[in-house]
Amino acid sequence: MTEDRKRSLRSQAWFARQDKMGFYYRSFLKNSGFPQDQFEGRPVIGICNTWSELNPCNSHFRTIAEHVRYGVLDAGGFPLEFPVSSLGEVTMRPTAMLFRNLAAMDVEEAIRAHPLDGVVLLMGCDKTTPALLMGATSADLPTIGVSGGPQLRGVYRGKSIGSGTNIISMSEQLRAGEVTLQEFHEAEGAMNRSHGHCMTMGTASTMASMVEALGVGLPENAAIPATDARRNHLARMAGRRIVDMVREDLVLSKILTHQAFENAIRTLAAIGGSTNAVVHLLAIAGRAGVDLTLDDFDRLGRDIHCLVDLMPSGQFLMEDFYYAGGLPAVLRTLGERGLLNKGALTVNGQPIWENVREAPCWNSAVITPFEEPFKPDAGIAILRGNLAPNGAVIKPSAASPELMNHTGRAVVFETIEELHERIDDEDLDIDETCIMVLKNCGPKGYPGMAEVGNMPLPQKLLRKGVRDMVRISDARMSGTAYGTVVLHVAPEAAAGGPLALVQSGDLITLNVQERSLHLHVDAAELEHRRAAWMPPTPHAERGYAKLYVDHVLQADKGADLDFLVGRTGSPVPRDNH
Ligand code: FES
Ligand code: MG
Repeated sequence: MTEDRKRSLRSQAWFARQDKMGFYYRSFLKNSGFPQDQFEGRPVIGICNTWSELNPCNSHFRTIAEHVRYGVLDAGGFPLEFPVSSLGEVTMRPTAMLFRNLAAMDVEEAIRAHPLDGVVLLMGCDKTTPALLMGATSADLPTIGVSGGPQLRGVYRGKSIGSGTNIISMSEQLRAGEVTLQEFHEAEGAMNRSHGHCMTMGTASTMASMVEALGVGLPENAAIPATDARRNHLARMAGRRIVDMVREDLVLSKILTHQAFENAIRTLAAIGGSTNAVVHLLAIAGRAGVDLTLDDFDRLGRDIHCLVDLMPSGQFLMEDFYYAGGLPAVLRTLGERGLLNKGALTVNGQPIWENVREAPCWNSAVITPFEEPFKPDAGIAILRGNLAPNGAVIKPSAASPELMNHTGRAVVFETIEELHERIDDEDLDIDETCIMVLKNCGPKGYPGMAEVGNMPLPQKLLRKGVRDMVRISDARMSGTAYGTVVLHVAPEAAAGGPLALVQSGDLITLNVQERSLHLHVDAAELEHRRAAWMPPTPHAERGYAKLYVDHVLQADKGADLDFLVGRTGSPVPRDNH
């Protein structure tokens, strides 16, 4: 490395000092066994780890971090691993989403405060990916994302079972007395049988695909199973590559352009990905200073078909997707149709098209051709109307065609507790033509915008054979769920959005073709109801929950905290002594 380049390394503002401060900065690290030459101009690479025993989806991340470390050493860098908050989707209450922005703050501040020149982000379970990308984007160093990879497919009594999707179906069978508790416990072990995140195309797999489509991850990042040795190869290659990225000054903002987000949105449609990606991509774009809107999702995803037959909408799992060719095969198909910004730069220094133009597809049942897609027109639709002036989302590929244009009588639940209390009441005035409306589950309302939008159907209608109804809320839903479910209504009820004013008996029309969501109540009556509306009592008087509720943006803006939007970069802070 030339003297000029050494001088330009950010870490040299710590380690090149030949004074009291240089003594501090070097000497305390030397206790880990680093000799003097480690401090003399090697790019310092932070390995940002979300390993935690409380987040089982990331339980193998110490091993992945070791492989990144080998790669950094291979390339002459100086690796230093550090922990940040880890968000376990199934362990955290009231919802891991409440803490996404907190973790993003942790990541951003940790990167900026330390003597780092580049970062490798280790992320897996749903919220760890957006949290790390958001924080790293605001810090804007050279950055590579390495996903932890999906679990091996679940296999129960000879049949494939998928994360989330089959939990829902088996718990229904348990309630109906069709399976025993012993069988239930056996299936628990059979589903989560290896390291890794959910192996359906839920939010974790969707976000790992977004990492690859945005160009922030190396090719094949999305689908290699967590326990396949090639996941460790990828980690090692990322470790080698990040050192070069520092030398090239390839910072994250050069990757995260509007073009990159357009590629991500089209990919989201082509993989039939989770609606959660809408909120996360908007938040990441907000950090990057890219002007992305809800309408971009509708516009760019509109004519794109779902090409992969994966649960929850299909039958296969992420392991099958990897063997069939993985995300590069999907990106190649999009590129051949003129649906990819081919010049978008990726972390390996190549335009995305160079990475995928010859990507093979080994199994067209799993990754279907564009002419014979698994599901046509799969993009996420953005609805507007007097019930959602700032938008709402629906995933048409997961909805029932006969309900896509539907008018029905509202049955309103003010809170999730009220829903649980009343839903199986035999006297509840509801039939399959009704529209279920759930309030106060948005960013401020839950707080944290929980995954409760796919409300359970009333038992009495399930017994009649009803399997889907129109459901509307300001909540999110799990990426592993499905149904005619309108989500992310903005503004939310707890912020005084029109959703707060809906009453049981009102008529509502959902028309997905026209992208509209209309409440048949006139403006004067709505004003009358607004005058009588009382905001819900605050969830917290202190602490992070209060900070969150006071500052969280609505879903159409990505539900980030208002003061976190944008980026500061990583100027070197003042000395600490
Ligand atoms: Fe972690 Fe699904 S619970 S990815
Ligand atoms: Mg989830």
